[in-house]
Amino acid sequence: MKNYNLTLSWSVFKNNELEKSDRMLVEAAKKATDGSYSPYSEFRVGAALLLDDGTVVTGSNQENAAYPSGLCAERTALFAAGHNYPGKVVIAIAIAARNTDGWTEKPITPCGACRQVMAETEALSGRPIKTILYGEEETMIIPDGTAMLLPFCFETESMV
Ligand code: THU
Repeated sequence: MKNYNLTLSWSVFKNNELEKSDRMLVEAAKKATDGSYSPYSEFRVGAALLLDDGTVVTGSNQENAAYPSGLCAERTALFAAGHNYPGKVVIAIAIAARNTDGWTEKPITPCGACRQVMAETEALSGRPIKTILYGEEETMIIPDGTAMLLPFCFETESMV
């Protein structure tokens, strides 16, 4: 028998402690919430990706009367990047959300389906994606990639 362990490291920052490039990406994610189409949940989510050439790609959640047809902000941004910038490496993602009262106080974390897409994006490039999760009170940063956010995720290698 063998035993295995997983360890996840993250940091929590006051928003005035964020370094400039992280703050810039958070601002882009916050602005992206303006594009949210969320008449059903009234929960506006924005995601901003930083590519290795400095390009910022944003997305927001897009809902539908047939609820499961909607898409989260993270995947909207990741698929837009895949389509518009094929082969470019995603080095960071920032996520921000607001409800009808304003920005969430605590960071929101991406859903399982978005983590699956983040994991494959990362596996394709071989470079860890830094995850920056904004909250009005504090921002959480997971520096070492998203693979640990979805242990045992489905991978292309699983299909052989
Ligand atoms: N949503 C996102 O866009 N990203 C997340 O990380 C969590 C949830 C969206 C989906 C739906 O439009 C709304 O937020 C409420 O779940």
